[in-house]
Amino acid sequence: MGTVTLGELCRECGVSKETVVRLIRQLVSEGYDIELEPGKGYRLNSYPETLSSCELMSRINTQWAGKRVYYREETESTNEDARFLAEEGMAHGSLVIAETQTAGKGRKGRSWSSPKGSSIYMSMLLRPDFPVNKASMLTLVMAVSVADALSQLYDMEVKIKWPNDILISKKKVCGILTELYNHPDHTYSVVVGVGINVNQKGFPEEIADIATSILIEKGDSCNRADIVLAVMEYFEYYYDLVAEGGDLSALVDIYDTYLINRNERVKVLDPAGEYEGLAKGINDQGELIVELADGSITRVYSGEVSVRGIYGYT
Ligand code: BTN
Repeated sequence: MGTVTLGELCRECGVSKETVVRLIRQLVSEGYDIELEPGKGYRLNSYPETLSSCELMSRINTQWAGKRVYYREETESTNEDARFLAEEGMAHGSLVIAETQTAGKGRKGRSWSSPKGSSIYMSMLLRPDFPVNKASMLTLVMAVSVADALSQLYDMEVKIKWPNDILISKKKVCGILTELYNHPDHTYSVVVGVGINVNQKGFPEEIADIATSILIEKGDSCNRADIVLAVMEYFEYYYDLVAEGGDLSALVDIYDTYLINRNERVKVLDPAGEYEGLAKGINDQGELIVELADGSITRVYSGEVSVRGIYGYT
């Protein structure tokens, strides 16, 4: 990396020398190794493995997704923070990210273990224009975005367990929790919370059989910011397609290529009664199409239903 003078930085950023010096001090305090070479200027030797707003917002390459980042060292749940900030007027596409969560939430009232510094805990606020009954599609949009980002960055075989678990080697590497909020002015917003296991070296015994991390699968640790930025780029692309088309038709094929149980027998754990069938893929509403033994077709709406392979989790 080369050097850059104070004058160049001022011109590039359109701010005063004092501001540049203050910002450089702030970056150094956040772990950036910035050296001042007398007579030459500043040199960035290395940057920290951080998800700070500074790091993400300076590298983001999107129009709206993740353009504004709210970073927390520790919080109860980024989904709760995003919900609160939505009421304060936080913009569409803004992201809340934390290093650790003390009350991370999973689906179906479960908790989401959130050890410090090794994973991604992020929640994105969306203010869709389409009708509220279509909002559950956003979970699938995020699932495809995470799957694309991880496959592209690490060249690994990534799968989706309908509707929204991301798997590598048949173990869960990412979970998504989508929550919907109605506002007094009759608009609504959606918080899409994403937990990605990145650099964990292991998992508690209770989940060790079904959970994995990118580090475990790849053998090396990964830069979490790279993942967040890639997810944001894919999400913006797919969201815009869905918002324009009004359904998931533009994503059905790609989603189905990731679907772990496609054309395999699955067990549908419906609170109204379990049944088995052949998983055919999703439709343009994000429902899972299942063919029953008598050849009839049923559509599974996500809600409280789970789908399992016949022999276990996948
Ligand atoms: C699941 O059960 O699979 C969904 C897990 C979602 C976890 C993420 S971590 C970031 C965001 N904040 C939360 O409290 N939950 C979601």
